[in-house]
Amino acid sequence: MNQLFPKWTNRLPAVATVLAVLGAPTLVFMVWYYFSPWYLEVGYAPDQPVPYNHKLHAGMFGMDCRYCHQNVERGPHATVPPTQTCMNCHVQVKKDSPLLAPVRASFEALAKGESDRPVPWIKVHMLPDYAYFDHSVHVTAGVGCISCHGRVDQMEVVRQEKPLSMGWCLECHRDPAKHVRPVSEITNMNYRHDEALAKKLIAAKKINPPTHCSACHR
Ligand code: HEC
Ligand code: HEC
Ligand code: HEC
Ligand code: HEC
Ligand code: HEC
Repeated sequence: MNQLFPKWTNRLPAVATVLAVLGAPTLVFMVWYYFSPWYLEVGYAPDQPVPYNHKLHAGMFGMDCRYCHQNVERGPHATVPPTQTCMNCHVQVKKDSPLLAPVRASFEALAKGESDRPVPWIKVHMLPDYAYFDHSVHVTAGVGCISCHGRVDQMEVVRQEKPLSMGWCLECHRDPAKHVRPVSEITNMNYRHDEALAKKLIAAKKINPPTHCSACHR
């Protein structure tokens, strides 16, 4: 008989009882909870046209994030690197690897003067258009990449670690002392957080993240 019903059905009576006792609000809560961005987007890790590996390049080789994400301290977008950045090494290293074929195709197109043909990277993180976000403001205030992207240096495939929901933004804006560090450490994935130092930096730099609607909805 055991084979007829999968194991999880054992828990059905318990679930049904809980629902009967707590009623509709629980159901509403559960639907809201499971369909909120924590569940929809966290963990999103699309396959990329080239299996570029952060764990290898940023982790094992210790390349700084800013070598490739050059705009992160200067403007709203961190940007993904142009093909030239990869070819700085891959004209020599693994130059015939089939995995790098799309990178070479992009590079050859550029060399021939054809119009821009970047590697078609698939975007992982994506805010809706109505929400305004600027990288440079955050990193120059001393918020490290790790606070919003997790241990990218340990990821073979980049995945979204945080929900990027409004509640998540506000959680930090109301209490930035849990995240602020010296600006020299923003890309350091092994930095040990020091809350007393964070409070000093916040006071000295008059850091005061906004919570009014028009800051993020312009
Ligand atoms: C050698 C170049 C290189 C280095 C160094 C590098 N990255 Fe990347 N990064 C890329 C490329 C290429 C992509 C796009 C492909 C992908 O998502 O894997 C990317 C994608 C990302 C994304 C996802 C972007 C999106 O689409 O939402 C994040 C976040 C990111 N990198 C963070 C980091 C962090 C943090 C570091 C430092 C620990 C770092 N990267 C170091 C090349 C690099
Ligand atoms: C305060 C949170 C926060 C911090 C700190 C942060 N990011 Fe991001 N990052 C985001 C959000 C939010 C997005 C999505 C932006 C969008 O869709 O407009 C994003 C997107 C990206 C992307 C995709 C390209 C782009 O600009 O949209 C890359 C690459 C990236 N981040 C790299 C980094 C690196 C490298 C650092 C550290 C130097 C960093 N980020 C620090 C929140 C952050
Ligand atoms: C600083 C030098 C350097 C840069 C810049 C660089 N790589 Fe690499 N990459 C390497 C090295 C070294 C290896 C490992 C070679 C080995 O396994 O012997 C490697 C391996 C790879 C591999 C695996 C190839 C295979 O056949 O195993 C891919 C894919 C790759 N890199 C993609 C990229 C992309 C995409 C970029 C640009 C965003 C990039 N790399 C930038 C040095 C670099
Ligand atoms: C880990 C902490 C943290 C997270 C998460 C975070 N922020 Fe911030 N934010 C800050 C800090 C620190 C500042 C700088 C305040 C200052 O310098 O006074 C800031 C400033 C801002 C500002 C005002 C500066 C400007 O660019 O106009 C906006 C807007 C903003 N953040 C939007 C967002 C949005 C949208 C999100 C979520 C997608 C987000 N932030 C997530 C810490 C954070
Ligand atoms: C720190 C930045 C920030 C502030 C301040 C902020 N929001 Fe948002 N808001 C966001 C982000 C980011 C999203 C997108 C969340 C997502 O993709 O799930 C959002 C989404 C929304 C949505 C759409 C919700 C949904 O589920 O589709 C509404 C409505 C909204 N905000 C209203 C407000 C109002 C009203 C205020 C002021 C009381 C406010 N926001 C303040 C960042 C902010």
